[in-house]
Amino acid sequence: MNPLWPPAPLESSTAVGRWLYYKEETGSTQADLRELALRGAKDGTVVVADYQNAGRGRGSNKWLAPKGCCLLFSWLARFPAPMSFASRFTMLSALAVADALGAIGVEAGIKWPNDLTVGDRKICGILTETVADGDKVDFALIGIGLNVNLVEEDLPNELRRMATSVAMEIGGESDRGALLVEVLGNIDERYAALKSGWNPVQEWKRRMMTLGEAVCVNVGGDRICGTAEDVGEHGELVLRKPDGDSVEVWSGLVEVVRLRA
Ligand code: BTN
Repeated sequence: MNPLWPPAPLESSTAVGRWLYYKEETGSTQADLRELALRGAKDGTVVVADYQNAGRGRGSNKWLAPKGCCLLFSWLARFPAPMSFASRFTMLSALAVADALGAIGVEAGIKWPNDLTVGDRKICGILTETVADGDKVDFALIGIGLNVNLVEEDLPNELRRMATSVAMEIGGESDRGALLVEVLGNIDERYAALKSGWNPVQEWKRRMMTLGEAVCVNVGGDRICGTAEDVGEHGELVLRKPDGDSVEVWSGLVEVVRLRA
C-alpha cells in the first residue's frame, strides 16, 4: 500500500494543500473547487481526483485521463489582485510542476501559454479560471493535469505523437502521491513569494521553448503568424509579423511552424 495515496492534507503547508479534498471519481475538480470556493473555502484549498468523467481542458477541449495514472487537481487562489494578475497563478504553477519533474529527471519546458512539454510532446496542461469582483480577482481556480504513469497504449492514436508522461520519459512507474506532495509544496512556496511581491514572468520566460520560434497562434477563429519575440509583464506573447508589425496575443493555441521569408 502506498502511504501517500490517497493524498492527505499537507499540514506543513502555509496555504496550498492545507485543506485537501480527495475524490476517487468526479466530473471535474474545477467544478468541485468552484462550488467549495463559492461556499467560502479557504485560500489554497485543493481538490484531487483519481478519475474525472468530465475533465475539462482549455477552450472547449476535454481532458481525458484513465483511472489511477495521473495527477488531476485544482487549487484555489483567493488573492485580491487586478484581473491581469491571474496569469501569474498559471505561471507559478507551471514553474512548480517543472521543478518537481526536474527533480525526478524529466526536463520540461513551457509552451506558451500554459503547457509543459518534453521536446514537442505535452506532459502537463494548466487551466486557470477566474471569478471577478468588479475589475479584481475574487478567486482563481488553477487546474493541473499531469501525465504520470500513462503509457502509450492508454492514448488514442491521434494523440500518440503529441503526448508524453513521466513513465514514458523515464521508463518506469513513479509514486504519484510523492510527486503530488512535491508539486503542492513547490506551488505553496512560490505562491507565498508571489504574495510578497515576486513576479514569476522572468523565470517563466527563461523556461519558454517557444521564444524565437516561428509560430502561428489560433485566437478565436483567427490565425496569427510571426516570430515569438517576447513575453510581456502579464504573460502576453509578443509576435513579430512578417510585415514587421508586432502584435500582442493574450491567449490561443500555439503551433510551431516554418515561416516563408
Ligand atoms: C489544457 O491543457 O487544455 C488544460 C488541461 C487542464 C486539465 C486539468 S485536470 C484537473 C483540472 N480539472 C479539469 O477538469 N481540468 C483541469
